[in-house]
Amino acid sequence: MSSTKRKPSRVKSSRNGKSKKGSRPSSPNKPSQDSIVSVLAESRVFNPPKSFSRTALIGSEQQYKKIWRDSVKNPTKFWAKQAKEQLEWIKPFKKVLTWKPPFAKWFEGGKLNVSVNCLDRHVRTEKRNKAAIIWEGEPGDTRVLTYHDLLREVSKCANALEAMGVKPGHRVAIYMPMIPEIAIAMLACTRIGAMHTVVFGGFSSEALADRCNDSQASVVITADGGFRKGANVPLKKNVDAALEKTTSVKNVLVVKRTGESVTMKPGRDHWWHDVVPNQSGHYEPYAADSEHPLFLLYTSGSTGKPKGILHTTAGYLLGATISAKYVFDLKETDTYWCTADAGWVTGHSYIVYGPLANGATAVMYEGAPNFPDWGRLWSIVEKHHVSILYTAPTAIRACIKAGDEWPKKYNLKSLRLLGSVGEPINPEAWIWYHEVIGGKRCPIVDTWWQTETGSMMITPIPGAIPQIPGSATKPFFGIDPEIVDKNGNPVPKGQGGFLVIKKPWPSMLRTIWGDDERFKAAYWSQIPGMYFTGDGARQDKKGNFWIMGRIDDVLNVSGHRLSTMEIESALVSHDLVAESAVVGRPDDLKGEGIICFVTLKAGISPSTEVKDKLSKHVVTQIGALARPDEIRFADALPKTRSGKIMRRLLRDVAAGKQSTQDTTTLEDLSVLANLRQDED
Ligand code: WTA
Repeated sequence: MSSTKRKPSRVKSSRNGKSKKGSRPSSPNKPSQDSIVSVLAESRVFNPPKSFSRTALIGSEQQYKKIWRDSVKNPTKFWAKQAKEQLEWIKPFKKVLTWKPPFAKWFEGGKLNVSVNCLDRHVRTEKRNKAAIIWEGEPGDTRVLTYHDLLREVSKCANALEAMGVKPGHRVAIYMPMIPEIAIAMLACTRIGAMHTVVFGGFSSEALADRCNDSQASVVITADGGFRKGANVPLKKNVDAALEKTTSVKNVLVVKRTGESVTMKPGRDHWWHDVVPNQSGHYEPYAADSEHPLFLLYTSGSTGKPKGILHTTAGYLLGATISAKYVFDLKETDTYWCTADAGWVTGHSYIVYGPLANGATAVMYEGAPNFPDWGRLWSIVEKHHVSILYTAPTAIRACIKAGDEWPKKYNLKSLRLLGSVGEPINPEAWIWYHEVIGGKRCPIVDTWWQTETGSMMITPIPGAIPQIPGSATKPFFGIDPEIVDKNGNPVPKGQGGFLVIKKPWPSMLRTIWGDDERFKAAYWSQIPGMYFTGDGARQDKKGNFWIMGRIDDVLNVSGHRLSTMEIESALVSHDLVAESAVVGRPDDLKGEGIICFVTLKAGISPSTEVKDKLSKHVVTQIGALARPDEIRFADALPKTRSGKIMRRLLRDVAAGKQSTQDTTTLEDLSVLANLRQDED
């Protein structure tokens, strides 16, 4: 059983920023750029339950420590051994790492195929007829695909894509609901050696068009629609609109899911059921070089358009494979469920590649957690006997709000391990997850990582590391993180700073698609020689890491990264808007809410109607996940003399706080006063 050492009287989860001059608290969720002071105090420690550790792959802290120490002392030795043991190679690699900062090449000389590692190698064993994917649609329909089924479907899809002219290195955009075909499509790309770029089905046609254009995708794989909260999401219609703005896409493959009527453009659009089933169920896998590009995934940065994060074949697959194995302590008998969408990196690494490379059984769910009611997640756990559940703090908080009566209606005894990802989990949510969902018997792995890191970086190993609510605890094997100040010097334990990774690791991003300079500027210029994560963090005396959130202008809304700049550009692209500034505001459910300050063009009067129009416009431009929580009109925005919008002041205004920040660089103090008056 878990042992609770001491309960603090009150858990404080706010953070203060301090400037060099003195103690001026900055925004509660945005550490200042200079130094970071953390006030999070949490002393409850949950040791791994003995019964869990006894059968765990890594069963003690000593064992973890030894492997970790050796792994960072001699990383190439560690990674070479793992690469040989965990992956199946068509041709063995010759060199473990070529590191010309910031460009890494892992496992040069080697050849392999990702789909072979995820499918063929299991089909050759007793896993052949084991369930690979147990899928549940939102309306309640289910499908089970064994490893053999999946290999056959992936091969057919690969043949269909090849018939459309897809070749190694080509880009295929995937814009689909959470149905098995999304995993089939991704794996089919890897079988050919083509790159996929999955675009989350909640994104708008504009966002899809941008990503198709940036990646120059030649094929889009989609569906007529998807089910979400009982409604139809018109995916094909969005694709049609996106393709008006792109020229690279020559073919569209469409799965029939909802049955709603869609327009099929002759010569360009093909129904999946017409072209995939009659293909051969064999496709000779492409022997990809270790560094062959595997996929692009777009993510928000603080400036400019979304960044196409490039991951390559061997390193990414190794990271996803070994982290899934040890962090989820995967066993042959597990039924594992990650609730993320395959459109995010979590879905890539921990619905598709990590679990399948390990030959695990993964549950996949199409719809919303609250359809038809808030019992849905728990009914799926009960129905499929889920033993490992990996979800996000935002979902946990929403479930807490919906009430304990929902999980209590279901038998959750099959669960043995819980996971969290996407944003810091507040200790209250952690405790609820532990008690109400985990029945106090399941360890919780709070996993910190990023689209860019490809796989988990800081996380407890569940049978080995004592867990502390709110802390992602210890680095994964081979990962060497540190907290530094802006000059790159390590800060004393307990003090906040910038989280950096000191050594290259196999699943690290290789570059930003088509923009090496931006790659250098975004991740490698702040602290020379180290990977800059963009997150603030601190390390406690016992070496546990506490992630404090983003330090750049990126919001974390429901665990999804959104750049303030992109939302501002969307607003300014509207005819009525002269200028805008977007900031985050702490939000109990979503982590951060989106607050937009808007200056309208001369002669336009503020009104609720205008607000609605602008809100809709942002949704059309980016997607529903970027819908503003509040739009506030301002005659002017607070700016420095050089014309930079002072977002830190706006954050205080948005949070309804009296700002005690330095306003000496503010050009016109009355601007701020006016913004405050508008609140009254
Ligand atoms: C945040 C998602 C605290 C963090 C896998 C990071 C977290 C960003 C955690 C990456 C966690 C993710 N604790 N913060 N366990 N996991 N984050 O690229 O700010 O969508 O930089 O990858 O989410 O978001 P991304």
